[in-house]
Amino acid sequence: MNYMTTTMVSKTVPLLDLKAQHSTIRDEILAEITRVVDSQKFILGDDVKQLEQAIAPYCGAKYAIGCASGSDALFLALLALDLKPGDEVVTTPYTFFATVGAICRAGAVPVFVDVEPETFNMDMRQLAAVLDAHPRVRAIIPIHLFGGCADMDPLCELAVARGITVIEDAAQSIGSEYKGRRAGSIGDMACFSFFPSKNLGGYGDGGMLTTNDAALAERLSALRVHGTKHKYYHDYVGINSRLDALQAAVLRVKFKYLDSWTEKRQQNATIYRGVLAGMNVPVVPPVTMPYQTRHVYNQFAIRCEERDGLQAYLKQHGVGSEVYYPLPLHLQTCFAQLGHKVGDFPVSEKLAKESLALPIYSELQPSDIEYVCNLIGSFYGDRNTR
Ligand SMILES: Cc1ncc(COP(=O)(O)O)c(C=O)c1O
Repeated sequence: MNYMTTTMVSKTVPLLDLKAQHSTIRDEILAEITRVVDSQKFILGDDVKQLEQAIAPYCGAKYAIGCASGSDALFLALLALDLKPGDEVVTTPYTFFATVGAICRAGAVPVFVDVEPETFNMDMRQLAAVLDAHPRVRAIIPIHLFGGCADMDPLCELAVARGITVIEDAAQSIGSEYKGRRAGSIGDMACFSFFPSKNLGGYGDGGMLTTNDAALAERLSALRVHGTKHKYYHDYVGINSRLDALQAAVLRVKFKYLDSWTEKRQQNATIYRGVLAGMNVPVVPPVTMPYQTRHVYNQFAIRCEERDGLQAYLKQHGVGSEVYYPLPLHLQTCFAQLGHKVGDFPVSEKLAKESLALPIYSELQPSDIEYVCNLIGSFYGDRNTR
């Protein structure tokens, strides 16, 4: 495509169009919602059980435990570890707040490892030194950001050697694969989100944990209902974090379409990649990432100069985009007590200035992608000719 000569007709391309997806499954969804409402059974129950039984094998795990959100899934995973005050948990500063929020809520201290610029995921070359410097690390939470997996082999090798628990934050990456293994089957536990914008999104909040460990599965199932296995008898101090039947019923309908929607996202990414390569705009991750055997593109992120200007220009021409994430977590006001300063995690700080997520949803048309790329081309073209 020659972006400088294509005539541009103005149109609207939102970052995400959930109404377009809903319109294709509306009747099925409404029938399921009616069924649950008529049953008047709203909490856990058969719908949640059946969803768990579908998600576990899909993620290559033996057990799946539904809960109220991805944030709670992370918190529950940490609760299951019986952390003591002063225990530490390693993650990256380049993730959604919930990861580090859960660490703090569980009473642990977050320890950060910077990310690598190609994937925005944990830089495993830095992990060993961080673990050496922090003997109280009890868990590592790698983020499978944007739909692509973190480099899990070196991480798991270090964790196993030191007896550290691995909790995958797979909130954005259901169905993603690392060397042929699904996100959710690689660490000791994994956390998923059914927030509406996720590839498998509910009609409200929802989340899930997966594990291959029967004892952990039993404990997590109890922790989500105030630590009880038998009503009114509490083995642990848990929380109320139940997935409700309405969400599970909606998710069971949507789950049938997940792979076809993911394929559409992948096809969209291929079109973008082809055009953006000709414009020297780096895509995250580069297509050559060897261990990433299935990327599910919850987000399609590029790295760009003059990011804020480009975002404003896209908006002016009807195109939605989003900055994930504008301020890395080590610099957030609420974590000031950790004592970090600008410059501590330079890659995260740089990416916070360069990252821009473009529309990638399944219903996006090739002509929409052409329009977005044309705008990117004309934005930089205009700058270069000034
Ligand atoms: C990486 C990551 N972790 C955790 C979460 C939390 O999930 P939820 O919004 O379902 O609580 C999200 C959601 O955006 C996320 O992107």
